[in-house]
Order: sequence, then structure tokens, then C-alpha cells
Amino acid sequence: MTILVTGGAGYIGSHCVQQLINAGEKVCVIDNLSRGHRESVPPEASFFQIDLLETDRLTETMKSQRIEKVIHFAALAYVGESVEDPLPYYNNNAAGTISLLRAMRNSRVSQIVFSSSCATYGIPENIPVTEESSQRPINPYGWSKLFIEQILMDCAHSYPNFGFIGLRYFNVAGCAHDGSLGEDHSPETHLIPNCLNTALGQQSEVTILGNDYPTEDGTCIRDYIHVEDICAAHLLALNALTPDSRCFYNIGLGHGYSVLEVVKTTEKITGCEIPITYQTRRPGDPPVLAASNDKISRELGWSPQYTTLESIIQTAWTWFQNHPDGYQSPISLTSENKSKDHP
Ligand code: UFG
Repeated sequence: MTILVTGGAGYIGSHCVQQLINAGEKVCVIDNLSRGHRESVPPEASFFQIDLLETDRLTETMKSQRIEKVIHFAALAYVGESVEDPLPYYNNNAAGTISLLRAMRNSRVSQIVFSSSCATYGIPENIPVTEESSQRPINPYGWSKLFIEQILMDCAHSYPNFGFIGLRYFNVAGCAHDGSLGEDHSPETHLIPNCLNTALGQQSEVTILGNDYPTEDGTCIRDYIHVEDICAAHLLALNALTPDSRCFYNIGLGHGYSVLEVVKTTEKITGCEIPITYQTRRPGDPPVLAASNDKISRELGWSPQYTTLESIIQTAWTWFQNHPDGYQSPISLTSENKSKDHP
């Protein structure tokens, strides 16, 4: 069986591709490389540079590669950017997924694991957030993911044998335990990479986006979950996926840390002082997010291996020190050991 991984050259996708290969799966990656890195795809995977909106090319690839199941990561995923410019979010995320689902139907592929987000909850009524909590997004990114959730439920209702599992990630962080893969975003807006880039001297300070939130220290609280724990959940979901699957799971540690706690923890790990400045709130940011992970623990047997913020940031620090320029750094994979490109 071959697994199609969309967005397999992206941050989470590339870590998942590596875990699938380690587990002995055959993997086909598609990615438009608008934000992903070709260097992050291991040589064992086949690679096609295709955009989600290219339905015909997706269909041909699914047929020729004999795809059986899909893991769908490819998406734009910056909350702030989605507020400033929503249309690319709806086009790439919502319309792109419709195109993917049409290609799946054309090639008789009917099972999918989908990357959803805690951003679908908006400002949650209760913490920790359970899967039954109301979903009222407060930014276009969250809406784009919620629209896809609805589309998946409608497909499962109307198309025989269509099964899906949606995973609602909280704040994904950290890098591969062996230092081989990591986080390399451009532009970089995420808190932990910004702290580490400051520790490396690549930026002068970290701007704290709001200190008047209703939390103990006034800064936002987020549930940071290690990227390898996220990927382990995908492998469990893939194994559990059947034509009858139609469910959503939160993936998070179960408790959150404030922005200031992240800065302090990064200082402790790196041994560097991280200068901070304060700015007003970023539009679209909820004050507190933390997951209840009871459902995925109970039903799929998942539990996080990285249970402290320190252990998560430590893996990211290793990557950032060795790859100050991300995948462009000298010790990245070279063209010789990249997987074979397909036109
Ligand atoms: N923050 C700062 N300074 C920075 C960067 C971030 O104060 O330089 C703050 C943000 O305002 C937020 C927290 O740190 O309160 C975390 O911000 P990130 O940008 O690291 O992550 P987000 O919470 O915005 O976004 C992440 C994922 C999204 C997901 C979202 C759910 O990237 O895909 O969590 O809220 F939807």
C-alpha cells in the first residue's frame, strides 16, 4: 500500500514522512514547494511537485502510484497572515482540499487523515478543550479548517466507503530527535523559533504580542506539542482508518504555557538572555488554548513522549544551532541523496 502525503515537504509533513518510512510504509509526497523544502523529503519517498488545485495531475499521480490512503497536511497555516489576506487561505486550504477530494474520487481512493486545528474552536468556553466544544473560529485560517471538517463529514455521509480521521493540532513545536529534520519557515512568525533565532543572535529581540490578556502574567497561553508526537498520532490514525471512520481528535499535551514562560524556558536551555519588547495584541489570537487529549488516548492509545516544554524546546535548539539557515545550511541533505523527482 502506498500512502500519499500532501505537504510532505513541510514542517510536520516531512517529520511524518520519515516516521512512515521508518515504519516500513511506501510513501509518495506531493508538495507545491511554496513553503516546503525539497531537501526535507527523504530519498525513500517518491516526490511530485504538484499544487493541490491541479486536480488532473493529482488524479494521474494517485492512479500511477497506486495510492491507497491519504494524509493531508498541505495548507497555509499562519493565523496573522490569514487575517491580513484571507483569500489565499480559503483558496489553498478549502478549495485545495475540494480538489484533492475530487482527485481521490476520480482514482477511487476513499480514506484520508486530515490536519485540522485547534483554531477551529476560536475562544473556547472551557479549558481543557474537548472535541465536543463549540467551534466558532476567530480567524480565516480557523474557518478554512472548519469548512474542510464539514466537507469531510458531508463526504462521509454521501459517499459509500469514504472514511476520515481529522486531527486537531494545538501548537506544534520541536524538531526531530536525531537533528535530521526541523522547522524552517519563511517568513518565521512562531514564538519558539523567534526565541531561538534571538538566542542565536539572528534577531535582536522577541516581540511579545500582547500582555493584557486575562492570564496570570498577561500573555497568551498555548499547548505546545512535539512534532514527533503529532506524527505518531498520524500513524495510529492511519492504522485505525476504515471506510466507517468519521471522527476528530485533539492532539496536545493537555496543559499550556504562557508566552513569557516560553521565553524564560528558552533562556534556561540556551543559556542566552532573550531581550523582549511588548506590542499590542495580534488580531485572531485567543487568550488561552489547551487540549483535552483524553479521546485520542482512550481510542487510539496515543500518549505524548515529550511531556515538558524543556524537552520540546531542547530538540528545536539542537536543530537551530546546527541549521542557522534552515535547510540552506551546509550540513543539510545534498542533491545526491534526495529522492527521485518526477516531472
Ligand atoms: N507570539 C509572540 N511573539 C512572537 C510570536 C508569537 O508573542 O514573536 C505569541 C502569539 O501571539 C501567541 C503565541 O505566541 O500568543 C504563540 O504564537 P505562534 O505564532 O507560535 O502560534 P499560534 O498560536 O499563532 O499558531 C499556532 C499554529 C496555527 C494554529 C494555532 C492555533 O501555527 O496553525 O497555533 O492557535 F492554528
